[in-house]
Amino acid sequence: MSGVTLDTVIKRYGNTQVIHGIDLEVADGEFCVFVGPSGCGKSTLLRMVAGLEQTTEGTIRIGDRDVTRLDPSDRGVSMVFQTYALYPHMTVEENMGFGLKMTGHPKSEITTKVAEASRILKLDDYLKRKPKALSGGQRQRVAIGRAIVRGPEVFLFDEPLSNLDAELRVEMRVEIARLHKEIGATMIYVTHDQVEAMTLADKIVVLRAGRIEQVGAPMELYRDPDNRFVAGFIGSPSMNFLRGRVKGSEVVSNGLARPVPKTGAAQDGQDVLIGLRPEHLTVKPGASHRVELTESLGGVSYVHLIGPDGEKIIVEERGDHRSALGDQVDLGVDPAHLYLFDAKSELRLR
Ligand SMILES: Nc1ncnc2c1ncn2[C@@H]1O[C@H](COP(=O)(O)OP(=O)(O)OP(=O)(O)O)[C@@H](O)[C@H]1O
Ligand SMILES: [Mg+2]
Repeated sequence: MSGVTLDTVIKRYGNTQVIHGIDLEVADGEFCVFVGPSGCGKSTLLRMVAGLEQTTEGTIRIGDRDVTRLDPSDRGVSMVFQTYALYPHMTVEENMGFGLKMTGHPKSEITTKVAEASRILKLDDYLKRKPKALSGGQRQRVAIGRAIVRGPEVFLFDEPLSNLDAELRVEMRVEIARLHKEIGATMIYVTHDQVEAMTLADKIVVLRAGRIEQVGAPMELYRDPDNRFVAGFIGSPSMNFLRGRVKGSEVVSNGLARPVPKTGAAQDGQDVLIGLRPEHLTVKPGASHRVELTESLGGVSYVHLIGPDGEKIIVEERGDHRSALGDQVDLGVDPAHLYLFDAKSELRLR
């Protein structure tokens, strides 16, 4: 049993509180991703689990051990950082085994563990090379190898792919997913890339300004966000938001050609935000919106519209798109895929 439990965890630097009482349960073997905008506290929270930052208040447990006051080396965790910081004068093999050597493990054991990590990470051909003769992706694999040989109960990753170019990121993302399947350890992974979050996570934790906004499986957050922040953060391109007001059983918005049906909790007269994902919108013949830009990515195009009040709306078109710059069009809305939020609290109206 080596899940991670955070109980009312708080972090203060002097008088500045940056983590505001976080409760979280990461199950044994789970892949948990922390996402959120820059400065929201992802790294701080991860470093608190690692023991690299002191926890001001609250309790952190790994399995059934209270590790809140333990040294990093006694927690049974390994951390992989954005910058891989390998020893330049050591070979790949030596870099991976160095931690074990320092803690006095016998040579034969180190050799076995390095060989196992090398097999998992497909580094066999590079064991005798020095880091400078490796690509960025290979170097990051060595850094992950260094974490694997220590046999931790919990792996902690802080944006491990941010320094890689787009193609390598995709490749390494797949590698990390495979690694998790193969070794089955608990993993906590920090990223601000929501594609990484969606594809890797069993569970996503959306953070904002030191608080949890929502926790759930990727598709739960995508389909059923609790508030505007989560709705806007999960999904790419982001959900569109239009101002509207409930009138009877409908919601009226200048940004829509016609009213849309209201959902359960929305009250007559209430000011709301209507959330519409680009993939659930269509462009229809009409005159209410103007095409400002179309971005063709091949299989899909993103059509940027300007609404009657100057609102910007993105619509996803599949296949050969037909919208052209300057066209006047209407927005096609699917009432089955429509989210309402209170305009003030920004909470979802279900
Ligand atoms: N030593 C420190 N003293 C004071 N404030 C700090 C210190 N370290 C971090 N902070 C603050 O804590 C907050 C959270 O920082 P953190 O590094 O955890 O953010 P993050 O979510 O990892 O952001 P990013 O995506 O940019 O890496 C920030 O507002 C940061 O300014
Ligand atoms: Mg960070």
